This record gives sequence, C-alpha cells and structure tokens, in this order.
Amino acid sequence: MLVSAEEMLTKAKAGKYAVGQFNINNLEWTKAILLTAQELNSPVILGVSEGAGKYMCGYKTVVGMVNGMLEELGITVPVALHLDHGSYEGAKACIEAGFSSIMFDGSHYPIEENVAKTKELVAICKEKGMSIEAEVGSIGGEEDGVVGAGECADPDECKMIADLGVTMLAAGIGNIHGKYPENWAGLSFETLDAVQQKTGTMPLVLHGGTGIPADMIKKAISLGVSKINVNTECQLSFQEATRKYIEAGKDKEGKGFDPRKLLAPGTEAIKETVKEKMELFGSVGKA
Ligand code: 13P
Repeated sequence: MLVSAEEMLTKAKAGKYAVGQFNINNLEWTKAILLTAQELNSPVILGVSEGAGKYMCGYKTVVGMVNGMLEELGITVPVALHLDHGSYEGAKACIEAGFSSIMFDGSHYPIEENVAKTKELVAICKEKGMSIEAEVGSIGGEEDGVVGAGECADPDECKMIADLGVTMLAAGIGNIHGKYPENWAGLSFETLDAVQQKTGTMPLVLHGGTGIPADMIKKAISLGVSKINVNTECQLSFQEATRKYIEAGKDKEGKGFDPRKLLAPGTEAIKETVKEKMELFGSVGKA
C-alpha cells in the first residue's frame, strides 16, 4: 500500500540520512526502483512529473501500475507516490487519482499567491493523510518545460511556507535540474544552514540530485536535507547501457530485438544507479 512520505522523512531528518525520490517514466523504471528499494530495505519515493504522467497515459494509469506492482512484486518497504513540481490543477488531479504525496510548485507565483494556494492544498492533504511538498526559490535548469534560474531561497519566505503545515520544503540553494555546467558554483551551504535554522525540524528537499558530488550531498544531509530528487542520472544510465547493447549488435543476435531483452540492460543500469544513491544517502536498511 502506498504511504504518505511524512513518517519516512521525519525518521530520516532525525536519523540524519535522506530518502531518495527517483522519477519514473514507464514500467521498467518503476520496477527497477521498487525492486532495488526492496532489496536494500530502503524507503523510497517515486516521483512523477506532469510530463511523465501524461506520457504514462495519465495519473490513474500510474496509480494502477504502481499499486499493481506493490502487490505483485511483494514490496513491503514504505513507498510514496509523489507528484513532482505539480501545478495547482495537477496537484488536485493527483489527489483524486490516488497519489499518496504531492509537490505544489508555487515558486513562480508572487509569495502571497504561493501562500494562498499552498494553504488550500495543505488542508486537503491533511484530511486525506497525504504529504505535501512546497518550494521556495526556483530550482534552476529545465525539467519538462519548467525553467528556473537556480536561485537561493529567502530563509524568511521558507519559514512562512513551512509554517503553513507542509510536510517537506524544497529550498533553492543554487541547485539545478539536469547536468551541472562546468562553471557551477556549487551548493550554497550558507543558505541551507540559514533555512534550517528558521525551519527547525522540517525535512528539507534537495532537487537536482544528478551530478552533485558525494561530499556536497553528505554535507547537505548534515544540514537538514532529508529528501533528494534524482531523475536525469537514471536516464543517462539507461541510455548508456542501451547504447552499448545496440552498438555491440546484440539486438541483431537471436531474439535480441525482443523488448524484454532490449530494455533489460538499461533496466539493470537504473537499478545500479538507484543502489549507489541509496547507499550515498544512507537510507539502506531504514525501511
Ligand atoms: P535531476 O534530473 O537533476 O536529477 O533532478 C531531479 C529533480 O529534482 C526532480 O524534481
């Protein structure tokens, strides 16, 4: 059964580790992530962007697929199904469809409007026992057409949004989605520290997990980050393994064209990436 992300993140914050949010794109992604979480006895959050939701034929299809897998694969570790960077309308659609967690990304609204919309969604999520993530300070880079500049959040605005009763808070600290450019300045630990001081026990979320060096990840966790989002890195692992398979001509050998064979190396590569991240984040054995 899907669970809210609240309990797993409260435990993570107290235990100084982070739970990974891995974004899903299709059946292979979902299966690879769930099996790895189960094998490592780790809690996990499946992230679904609005674009990926559309690609997978809508939120109801996603809920059906994930619930089916939890049962058929015998997954017993805590799993949250979470809308990533949701719009106000997307958030409502996911609540309806049976997600267990949502992110409302109101970071592009003026702060007053972000507050008003977040408040309304917090009330609905509380009633339904769902977790809700809010964002302050836009996360840079491009993800499904949502483009941000990589700002550093204002700690006072973070406090204001945290006080609305959200479960977890994403604060921009110079992080961006996708690959980091050569001249990236790194995470702003000064901002993170200031945000943590203002928001206390609130689990903080680090977006743009792909390509952040291990020492920065560890430092971020020590300063209150309890959820780390990874998307691009699984895509790159899948791509590289699939390319190797094709370039080695394996798709032309025997039944190598069968999608169950063609997609297998990429699926295994996703598992490997998820495993590395769970080990780095410290969530192994914490289910
Ligand atoms: P990356 O694609 O950079 O890993 O970011 C994922 C993310 O933050 C999803 O919200």
